[in-house]
Amino acid sequence: MSANIIDGKQIAKQVREKVKSGIEYRLEQGLRAPGLAVVLIGNDPASEVYVNHKRRACKEVGIESTAYDLPVDTSQEKLLELVDELNKAAHIDGILVQLPLPDHLDANLILERIRPDKDVDGFHPFNLGKLAQRMPVLRPCTPKGVITLLESTGVPLRGKDAIMVGASNIVGRPMSLELLLAGVTVTTTHRFTQNLADKVSRADIVVVGVGIPGLVKGEWIKEGAIVIDVGINRLENGKLVGDVEYDVAAERASWITPVPGGVGPMTVATLMENTLYAANELHRD
Ligand code: GUN
Repeated sequence: MSANIIDGKQIAKQVREKVKSGIEYRLEQGLRAPGLAVVLIGNDPASEVYVNHKRRACKEVGIESTAYDLPVDTSQEKLLELVDELNKAAHIDGILVQLPLPDHLDANLILERIRPDKDVDGFHPFNLGKLAQRMPVLRPCTPKGVITLLESTGVPLRGKDAIMVGASNIVGRPMSLELLLAGVTVTTTHRFTQNLADKVSRADIVVVGVGIPGLVKGEWIKEGAIVIDVGINRLENGKLVGDVEYDVAAERASWITPVPGGVGPMTVATLMENTLYAANELHRD
């Protein structure tokens, strides 16, 4: 078998076009454009790239993005003050604080300070709790984007067996909740998991988000499985690769995401979706 490629770039473009139409409709109704505050602390090169993608996407779809680029030594008090100010600002529908934060800042404290109805990253305990209780409001962008990719295959998800390799707060845990919500039977694995190969080889859907190139071997993949690679790793030769041994996995899978051009563009497109959702559904005033 040779896998079909899940073209994240193309699917993300469709999502952005839909958001763009939704925003045009708002403007026709005399409503304001949705507003997104994008907060970047310091100059981590990868974060700068991601934030630029987010700002560019806002411009494309018609979201008013406001940049808050703060120095690496910004104090916790200053950042909390900014979040409080953005929480109150009527033209701001979404607040995004790019992670990781410098070590002296307490990411959990800052994320919890964001008003849940402006938490377009879906990281606030309120939004994660609502997702866990099957009443999602604002959903974490990467996991929600992965569900959009899985749905794009047309393969029914309900009743399938999935493995989530990785249990981070940003990807693995919310992804497991999204799969559960979709009626999938999920096994979540992490650094203490035993017999990973054996578990992967039994899954109909394999989602991997760890950050270790080649962690999941192609020969572990069950014939016909769907493989979603959330990893983005830059090798010493400059090449970008995922966490899955792509070439071998692609010979066994029915569908597979490439890196780059798979999950990456979906995170940004889903952020656009979430910002429009916050404006339309959570900030009607
Ligand atoms: N860093 C890596 N992924 C993300 C994300 O989805 N949102 C934010 N804010 N920071 C990140």
